[in-house]
Amino acid sequence: MEDFNFYSPTFFAFGKDRENEAGSLVRRFGGSKVLIHYGGGSVIRSGLLDRVKASLDKENIPYAELGGVKPNPRSGLVYEGIELCRKEGIDFILAVGGGSTIDSSKAIAAGVVYDGDFWDFYSGKLIEKALPIGTILTIAAAGSEGSPDSVITKEEGMFKRGATGDAIRPRFSILNPALTQTLPPYQTACGITDIMAHLYERYLTNTTEVEVTDRLIEGLLLTMIHEGPRVIEDPDNYEARANIMWAGMMAHNNSCGVGRSQDWTSHDIEHELSALYDCAHGAGLAVTLPANFTYVMKHNVMRFAQAAVRVWGCQMDFANPENTARAGIEALRRFFKSIGMPGNFEELGAKEEDIPKMVESLCRGNGRGGSISGFTTLTEEDCANIYRLMI
Ligand code: NZQ
Ligand code: ZN
Repeated sequence: MEDFNFYSPTFFAFGKDRENEAGSLVRRFGGSKVLIHYGGGSVIRSGLLDRVKASLDKENIPYAELGGVKPNPRSGLVYEGIELCRKEGIDFILAVGGGSTIDSSKAIAAGVVYDGDFWDFYSGKLIEKALPIGTILTIAAAGSEGSPDSVITKEEGMFKRGATGDAIRPRFSILNPALTQTLPPYQTACGITDIMAHLYERYLTNTTEVEVTDRLIEGLLLTMIHEGPRVIEDPDNYEARANIMWAGMMAHNNSCGVGRSQDWTSHDIEHELSALYDCAHGAGLAVTLPANFTYVMKHNVMRFAQAAVRVWGCQMDFANPENTARAGIEALRRFFKSIGMPGNFEELGAKEEDIPKMVESLCRGNGRGGSISGFTTLTEEDCANIYRLMI
């Protein structure tokens, strides 16, 4: 295990009706004027936005509103939000929605207190200062409710890039599993896939002797394999949704990733797909993971064989562990298909002729030097080969 720091100060309020505590939590964490940020309208239709406003009113906390965050959130709305916050004297941002809304809120929070262009943070600058943020989560997926990360798409060039810094970890996150019951099955499945991807990105490590985090990841993957199909079959199953919601937080606040190197090349590869085709991040990952894993498997066959045995219940083939590793990747592919995720370029709406464009953006765009690295280093040729495996 490697040395590490772990700082995760988010206060979590988990359970039914907890959104009614939004006002008192904003007050507790120092907010006196709030920007309520939300997406394309699901929180209006469900009545959640009205409940949140009532909760702020109860505490006499004034607020401004900015809706319209799109999935794969865009830089344009971030600039608008920064300007609005400065004009209105906002000192706290309340994200009501999914990962896209939370990430847009984080970008605004960092941008408001920064003199330069907020995109500097998405080009590699660490976020050290930001307005405080609270979240009310409506989809278990990205894990942004407990993470120090944000992913934004720059319209100019359509670059989808991440920024990080403990300053953008939410001060509080309200997790009411019942709020996720209105999700369409496809979005629920995208969330399940993203959560599993966050676990796999951490599982693919070059660090040895990481039993505690290995076992945590395996436990969470087993949970997803158990609860995922239950919730797809019965969307109103509160208990299954509750387990998935907490697994989503655990998968990405890095409690499973400390002390070990991590991969994240699958996310880099997928971000080109969702930037170009505007597909759901989880759907892109369902196509990317099996292809990338098949390509990089030989870098450490035993890592994949271990996951196959411990997570997917495969028999260990001691004479040829590669067979076991492959069986585990196939089980993952079958699982994604079983919950309704796409399995190839065609089902995702991606095109073979766009591969050179995606590889160029992936390996050279936004200042990158011709390759991406994680579990192993992938050159432009490797990335093109991985995209071809998705056809
Ligand atoms: O916009 P609204 O109308 O709210 O609809 C959303 C959206 O269309 C809908 N939705 C959310 N909750 C709902 C609901 N519909 C009905 N009932 C509900 N309760 O679902 C759609 C997807 O929402 P979105 O916020 O985009 O989903 P998700 O949480 O999957 O976020 C995806 C974004 O997060 C980034 C992804 O790249 C993508 O841009 N990621 C962020 C990470 C982070 N900050 O740590 C890590 C992840 O790996 C990921 O890259
Ligand atoms: Zn993700």
